[in-house]
Parts: sequence; C-alpha cells; structure tokens
Amino acid sequence: MEKIQIIDAQKHVGEVVKIGAWVANKRSSGKIAFLQLRDGTAYFQGVVVKNDVPEEIFHLAKELPQETSIWVTGEIREDSRSKFGYELGVQDIEVVGKSHDYPITPKEHGTEFLMDHRHLWLRSSRQHAIMQIRNEVIRATYEFFNSRHFTKVDPPILTGSAPEGTTDLFETNYFDQKAYLSQSGQLYMEAAAMAFGKVFSFGPTFRAEKSKTRRHLIEFWMMEPEMAFMHQEESLQIQEEYVAFLVQNLLDNCDYALHVLERDRTVLEKYTKLPYPRISYDDAVTLLQENGFDDIEWGEDFGAPHETFIANSFDQPVFILNYPKDTKPFYMKPHPTREDVVICADLIAPEGYGEIIGGSERATDYNYLLEQIRNQGLDENEYSWYLDLRRYGSVPHAGFGLGLERAVTWLAGIEHVREAIPFPRLLNRIYP
Ligand code: 4AD
Ligand code: MG
Repeated sequence: MEKIQIIDAQKHVGEVVKIGAWVANKRSSGKIAFLQLRDGTAYFQGVVVKNDVPEEIFHLAKELPQETSIWVTGEIREDSRSKFGYELGVQDIEVVGKSHDYPITPKEHGTEFLMDHRHLWLRSSRQHAIMQIRNEVIRATYEFFNSRHFTKVDPPILTGSAPEGTTDLFETNYFDQKAYLSQSGQLYMEAAAMAFGKVFSFGPTFRAEKSKTRRHLIEFWMMEPEMAFMHQEESLQIQEEYVAFLVQNLLDNCDYALHVLERDRTVLEKYTKLPYPRISYDDAVTLLQENGFDDIEWGEDFGAPHETFIANSFDQPVFILNYPKDTKPFYMKPHPTREDVVICADLIAPEGYGEIIGGSERATDYNYLLEQIRNQGLDENEYSWYLDLRRYGSVPHAGFGLGLERAVTWLAGIEHVREAIPFPRLLNRIYP
C-alpha cells in the first residue's frame, strides 16, 4: 500500500492509501465519525462509517483526542462539498502518539494566549495557509532573480557596521571586540555587486526598535537585490516587476491558501498591472496637507496614518520618490540638482500595509561618502572596506530591500506582521 501526502490526494482517487496525520478536529454521531486530518501539506476529512469498519476502530475513531497522531488507511474519494475536493473513506487507524487536553481548542482564543502557544498555534489551518504564502514568496523570489542572472550572495549576520543608523542596534561581544547583529546586508551586497554584477540576498535582519505596531518585528527577513551599472529608474522597474511577479505566483500557486484566508483574488489581480504609480515626496507632503494633515511638514518622515492616506489615493502599490536627505541613511546618492533630497524610493503597499520596500541609488563619490560617514558620527575605520568600493572601478549602482513579513502580511491580507513569521520576535516577546 502506498504512503501518500494529503496534497497528492487527487492522484490517488479510488486507491487505498496510508497517511501519517494528526487529528485536528472531529465530530461524530451514532453511526459515523468525521475526522479532520492534517499532515502538514493540507487538511481533509476522514470518514469512518460504523458498519464499514471493525467495532474497535469505530470506537477508537470516536474517542481520538485532538492532535493525536495516527497512521490512517483508507480509500481516496472525490468530495465536491469540501473546500479541498477529496476525502478519505477510513478503513483502519493506528495511534502513533497520544495527545491529552490540547490547549488550542476550536473555540476562540485571545492573541496573548495564542502567542504563548505559537509552537502549537502553527498547526492551525490559518497559520498553515500564511506559511504556504510565505514559502511561495520565497520560492518565487529565487525564481525571479535567478532567471535574470542575479547571483545569490549571503552577507554576514555579525557585523561591525550600522548601515541603517546607530540607534537600533543589537550589540554583542565578539571576543575582545564589539559586534552588531545585521540591520541590513546592503553594504556587503554592494561589494558583491562589484564582484558579480547583479546579486540578491535573503536573510534575517535585526532592529532593536522600541516600536510596538502591527508592522514591526525585532527580527525579520529581507530580500536585498543590488545591481551594478544601474540607475534608480531601472531599479524601480525591477522592483515593480518583482512585486507583480510575486502576486501573480500567489494567484497561480496558492489558490487554496488564499481561499482559507478569504483573500479576494480580484483585489490581488489589480496588483499584477504595471507600471505602479509614483509620487514625489514633495507632492506627497502637499497631498497630505491639502487633506487635513496639519501635523506633517516638509522634511519629516511619514508615519503610518500618512502612508495609509497616500496609499489609499491609489489602488496599486505606490512609489514615494526622493525623500529629504536628513531622513535617510548616509549611503544614498545625492540629487543632481537639489541639495535637500536623495535619489531613493519607498514602495507603499495598498490597503494600509505600509512600506514594503526601501531602496535607493547609491552614492559613488569617495569624498562625499567619507564626509557623510563622518557627519553621522560613524567610525570611518569600520567603513574603509566600503570606501574601497569607490576607489577601484566604482560604477553607478542601485538596490533595494523588501521586508518579507511586511510583504506576506499584505499579500495574505492579515492584520498583524506577527503571524507572517513562524516564531515572531517582538518588543517584550522572545518566547517560544
Ligand atoms: O527601509 P529599510 O530600513 O531599508 C534597508 O534596510 C536598506 N538597506 C535596503 C536596501 O536598500 N538594500 O528596510 C527595508 C524593508 C522595509 O521596507 C520594510 O519592508 C522592512 O524592510 N522592515 C521591517 N519589517 C519588519 N519589521 C521591521 N522592524 C522592519 N524594518 C524594516
Ligand atoms: Mg525604510
């Protein structure tokens, strides 16, 4: 008898198969028991009919506690009434691991309770669907960049530099030196771009930000492409093609997960249309001021309400271009004709999800960069390798970072970024 995974059920209709599964839920009457089975690939129903199985199997099925692990044998049947489309006509059950008083019952639980039980909460169908979307975004990212001849490069996690500012660093001891957990791999990716042309990274990044919002994680994963011989305009085109590609792949490959999450496909379809709208920082400030935001002045960074208002003025992701120099890190290329802004863009997701990409063209002038590093109070010795990149065949280059969990939160249409990562690290939470 073949051992299969639930996701492959359609290839085995009419066959008797064996599946290793957990009992996610069950209900039964006098003559029939319905087991909600999950094996990590999908969820479907096992039907146990009293008259079709030995007495002790029916009795066992009726008494199986939630989250018992079992080997279950039965025939795959089509089932047009279920979301999944197939079910199992159960013939035999063998208990593998018992379960008692599973804490997450089908009733509603509070968020703190669920967060304390994140190691178990991951088993629920909703969390499963979100992780399938996360997985697809990662898979499609590799496909997108590999097919365009980008080389995957892995920047270090332990670093001596602070690309995104010194205020939110995690510091640790590195033997008799200080080291920091990486906030961004960008500076290393710039070195990689000078070696390999077009590169991308995908890895964990850390920000000791005291922000407790539905968009902030302390540890999050970032995709950071970096491209040599490229100006910002071309980088913006790659960014929008990349995001549209992610959306299209979810529509093509994650129908079941989108269905579980009740994500409206017609809304996502709008995000596959290119180009995405663009607005300058200057015009965005004017737009806000004309619409009653008297708390924002030119020169200030946008907060969540501002980003949401700007996003709602368009029905696709929108690029906000060329922010004030003082709001951005030291490495961004200065504007050719203006002192006060830099060549950069943030991509703001629709539906109030905020910034999903931050990127820029990079400054290439050695003396300009050295001055910026000094002005920001950074230790220039730590950056001498970075400055070397401007001494040996410096070229125009640009890049960006997409926050994986922000993107997943938006694409899945969920409330809070904490559900977009298996084990979120939040302000005041590192358990489990
Ligand atoms: O805008 P950020 O800070 O840009 C950089 O780190 C650049 N060095 C990237 C580059 O050009 N290579 O961060 C990039 C993205 C943001 O747009 C956001 O999606 C995400 O990372 N992000 C966070 N996601 C979750 N929690 C946080 N605390 C985040 N901070 C940034
Ligand atoms: Mg940013």
